[in-house]
Amino acid sequence: MSEFNIVVASEEHIKYVDEILETIAAAAKVRGTGIAKRNPEYVKQKMAEGKAVIALHGEEQEFAGFSYIETWDNKQYVTTSGLIVKDKFRGMGLSRLIKHMTFSLARRRWPEAKIFSLTSGAAVMKLNTQHGYKPVTFAQLTNDEAFWHGCEGCINFDVLQRTGRRYCICTGMLFDPKDDDCVAIAQKELDLDPKCKATMDQMFGKLPNDKAGKNIITKLKSIIKK
Ligand SMILES: CC(C)(COP(=O)(O)OP(=O)(O)OC[C@H]1O[C@@H](n2cnc3c(N)ncnc32)[C@H](O)[C@@H]1OP(=O)(O)O)[C@@H](O)C(=O)NCCC(=O)NCCS
Repeated sequence: MSEFNIVVASEEHIKYVDEILETIAAAAKVRGTGIAKRNPEYVKQKMAEGKAVIALHGEEQEFAGFSYIETWDNKQYVTTSGLIVKDKFRGMGLSRLIKHMTFSLARRRWPEAKIFSLTSGAAVMKLNTQHGYKPVTFAQLTNDEAFWHGCEGCINFDVLQRTGRRYCICTGMLFDPKDDDCVAIAQKELDLDPKCKATMDQMFGKLPNDKAGKNIITKLKSIIKK
């Protein structure tokens, strides 16, 4: 996978937005689920705010995959959304690496937030499970109207409406940062990807419960004492 460069997107990646949206739209057509149409300006804003992850391939930096994060209910909840891998790069483990990055980004930026997912995709359910998410009822997800508004483009929206938002075709899955089990599973998964961890450490600094981070803190304390 070394031929892929997976980074937190910024303004320099705005040139990829049209291709990203075309790839998402084409995949939704194949799946036949219907999908909330994403606005190019919204995706560009995600990139500018450092809330998106892009995978690029080779020296030509060809677009390979993408996903972004969104917050709900005043940042009490986070979702990783819009996961897409270009056809020719599927089945190589790329979405797993992208998920490591979006998930880590969400954890670093909003450590107290619950991370959830509403999906009917088998691959996404697998990725969520690997990251410590557990299946939950819809009542445990966000109440934020803006989130549920996103379901309106789905062909099954009538089911959600009929059931008063309690049931639908998708499975709700939740990572609760207060659940040690969730945290331990996610940690095991992220430990498989030192490159992602290095990127996060570079952006946000080392975590205090990190071995290397602890050493730095011990060193700093001894300097302060002197
Ligand atoms: C879903 C998608 C992102 C997966 O990307 P990918 O890079 O091919 O996936 P990976 O190779 O990283 O596989 C991730 C895991 O999901 C599993 N997986 C992949 N595709 C799968 C499928 N169609 N059904 C079941 N499991 C699948 C893989 O076996 C892998 O598990 P493992 O790590 O234990 O082996 C890609 O197929 C895609 O872009 N699809 C269209 C858009 C879409 O459906 N997005 C999700 C919106 S809910």
